[in-house]
Amino acid sequence: MTSQVTSKRELYDQLASQLSSLLAGERDLIANAANFSSLVFHALPDLNWAGFYFAKDDELVLGPFQGQPACVRIRVGQGVCGVGASKCETVIVPNVHEFPGHIACDSASNSEIVVPLTKGERLIGVLDLDSPLPARFDQDDAAGLESLVRILLSSVSS
Ligand code: SME
Repeated sequence: MTSQVTSKRELYDQLASQLSSLLAGERDLIANAANFSSLVFHALPDLNWAGFYFAKDDELVLGPFQGQPACVRIRVGQGVCGVGASKCETVIVPNVHEFPGHIACDSASNSEIVVPLTKGERLIGVLDLDSPLPARFDQDDAAGLESLVRILLSSVSS
């Protein structure tokens, strides 16, 4: 409904402003990714995991996150994160149990969104959010999270 969509967009607008303030003056990717994951995990409702995997060779390696301990290495092309990384596009999965090759790190997860981090043509990593709710993420989340990722990337670019 329109009012729900508006409030979700407003939430992302507020988060964008908070994130810009939080990251201002710091250029370290790990530090800024850590504060990003904490902000998002605590501000967005119905998440059980929020964090990053960074690209190293043909793998994604676990970065800063909030939530239960997670698998450390994911091959590009495998799982939701690996597919988002190989396509270099945002992937929304309404039901992770129906996603071929989904990697279950937390049995509480039922839906997921993965947003790639790129610098030019180069893949830096992915942002990954999990929810216990089915179909928790939609196009407004994709647009909102892509904006937040742009703030993160610009905070660390020289
Ligand atoms: N479910 C992900 C793995 C990472 S965890 O959700 C934190 C995937 O299928 O790639």
